[in-house]
Amino acid sequence: MSEEKEQNTMNLQQKLQGKTLEEMKAMTQELFAETRQYQELMMMYECAIKEVQTKLEVLDEEFSVRYKRNPISNIESRVKTPMSIVRKMQKNHLEITVQNIMAGLNDVAGIRVICAFIDDIYDIARMLASQDDIRVIRIKDYIQDPKPNGYRSYHMIVEIPVFFSKSKQIMRVEVQIRTIAMNFWASLEHQLRYKKGIENIEDIDEISQELLEAAETIAQTDIKMQNIKNKIGKFTDIA
Ligand code: GTP
Ligand code: MG
Repeated sequence: MSEEKEQNTMNLQQKLQGKTLEEMKAMTQELFAETRQYQELMMMYECAIKEVQTKLEVLDEEFSVRYKRNPISNIESRVKTPMSIVRKMQKNHLEITVQNIMAGLNDVAGIRVICAFIDDIYDIARMLASQDDIRVIRIKDYIQDPKPNGYRSYHMIVEIPVFFSKSKQIMRVEVQIRTIAMNFWASLEHQLRYKKGIENIEDIDEISQELLEAAETIAQTDIKMQNIKNKIGKFTDIA
């Protein structure tokens, strides 16, 4: 990396001061795209996602042959944008370096697993956690303990070794596992969170209250669907 780029990286925090959001986005995007160490870092996180995603797909495929059904209905993944990385580093008062990003952020690589049934969530989580190259760093079970706003999901931070040409790197990946219904809810709630334009506090309160009620209804429906499936399972050989 050129000395100039190195300097750019170190001074990014100062350079971002007083800039508009759009300017900050453009600057971080450019820095990450042009600086080899960040290109490499993001590539490593992309590869970590592939490793974990393959494990999930293997489990799903085995299920489909063994039990004639797919516990996973969809998998989404993303690496955090340069802008979000920089913001979180600033929030945590960390200097922006590759080492600090790897040690300080758990969610640069993120995978979202969408399941049909609640039991599938725990089955997938257990099967992933028990694999001997996976180390579970942290679990947050927002299904057992929903957030006050009604958010439900099962979160795991895992570490996985990724083998590159000259080294093995232990990479961290955030895995969120939720039902289709929980995902439906979270997508809408996410919109409320980031929607500009709703500034009236009363409007926000009303929507938040309705969202909370919808979350409860959804949770009951998820349980009901699981119970129905279990009943059907008693009459058939479907797991
Ligand atoms: P973050 O700084 O948000 O990553 O917090 P954390 O490290 O304590 O992680 P947590 O497991 O609580 O949440 C991680 C991720 O879960 C978030 O980045 C969101 O993608 C999702 N999430 C958590 N809470 C909510 C919520 O209330 N609503 C929605 N829509 N998503 C949420
Ligand atoms: Mg996050």
